[in-house]
Amino acid sequence: MVDLSRLPAVLGGMPVRSSDYPSWPVWDDGERTLLLQVLDDGGWWQGDGTVAATFARDFAAFQGARFGLAMTNGTHTIEAALVACDVGEGDEVIVPGMTFVASATAVLAVNATPILVDVDPDTLCIDVGAAEAAITGRTRAIVAVHVAGCAADLDALTDLCRRRGLRLVEDCAHAHGTTWRGRGVGSWGDAGSFSMQRSKLMTAGEGGVLVCNDETIRDTAWAYADCGRVAGEWFYHHATVGTNLRMTEWQGAVLQAQLARFPGQHRRRNDNAVALNAALAEIPGIRPQPRDPRMGSQGNYCFVFHYDAAEFADMPLRTFERALGAEGIPMGVSYPSLSDLAVFRERRFGPRLRAGAPMVDVEHLHLPVAEAAAASTVWLQHRLLLADRDDVLDVARAVERIRTHAPSIVDALS
Ligand SMILES: Cc1ncc(COP(=O)(O)O)c(C=O)c1O
Repeated sequence: MVDLSRLPAVLGGMPVRSSDYPSWPVWDDGERTLLLQVLDDGGWWQGDGTVAATFARDFAAFQGARFGLAMTNGTHTIEAALVACDVGEGDEVIVPGMTFVASATAVLAVNATPILVDVDPDTLCIDVGAAEAAITGRTRAIVAVHVAGCAADLDALTDLCRRRGLRLVEDCAHAHGTTWRGRGVGSWGDAGSFSMQRSKLMTAGEGGVLVCNDETIRDTAWAYADCGRVAGEWFYHHATVGTNLRMTEWQGAVLQAQLARFPGQHRRRNDNAVALNAALAEIPGIRPQPRDPRMGSQGNYCFVFHYDAAEFADMPLRTFERALGAEGIPMGVSYPSLSDLAVFRERRFGPRLRAGAPMVDVEHLHLPVAEAAAASTVWLQHRLLLADRDDVLDVARAVERIRTHAPSIVDALS
């Protein structure tokens, strides 16, 4: 048992955790064997091999989608999804403000205008009412982000898109394994985009998979990712404008092994997150990210909770994070609201959105919920959820200890 009366680690006491949590990424002979097979085959390029394509197909099936395309990263998969949805110059795309910048810059990459909207104060996912209010005659699509693996309201989003004739791209970079009404996220919209970058729930350092159910979306996205080629045509027959977004076979090999391990890791993370949510909910000033009953399981890219400084002697969030880190808890950090980024505030769009394009309305670029969330949410690294249950619950013990000593921490560090 942890003695809560002991001095907190940030003031020189013994930390709650004397050993580290499991490290990330995880690999074993599965990755090694598949990588060596690719090496020995000589088929290192997706055009010569089957490993990346097989992985993408298997991953799509895991998420409940018909098709999967293996691409370079989770920024390019959003871009390819938008191209496949025929989004381009003159179009507006609605994007939530609490996300990684790529959810919006992928829109700029296809020369469309990202319209930033606010998020739900509990889930941090897109506020569907705000999205509806932002629709204009130029709106073509919504990019919905499943923040920290928590599913956005896919019933409301699919209904809205159907009613208003919009395309829905799900940004699932945080949400491998998340299900909604029993089916994987990414399979609900016109396309789903997954990232396999180093910090994600399965990884090859870099990588992305676009999932979809529609053959035209699949073929258009792949033509764009493969230099405008058309399946079955001559190699140098380029029918449409495209670029090169192909995943390598090396990445496919690593990811095939990661996928074999994923279901067990996912269950463990999900179950540990449920237990940690319950423990944290008991602590005044801590409010876990809620779990909608329609979300069966959550792929926790991060473990997120809301922090109310008033219950911690007005300790600033950054001091709280420092104190928690000192107790041996692996800390992440919230994204800033996109409304606070120079790229949008100063319209630093490079060659995109030149004269005539709908502009980002900087005068009204204020997202109170996303901005407040950036200053009041705590993001922990998902690797801690791979530990044994009692080790995971050390997070709640560390938070309780910090709360017990909050006045002295504030006195010493402010
Ligand atoms: C929500 C979100 N969307 C998109 C991306 C982009 O993925 P990638 O880094 O693979 O390009 C990320 C990466 O962090 C992300 O967090």
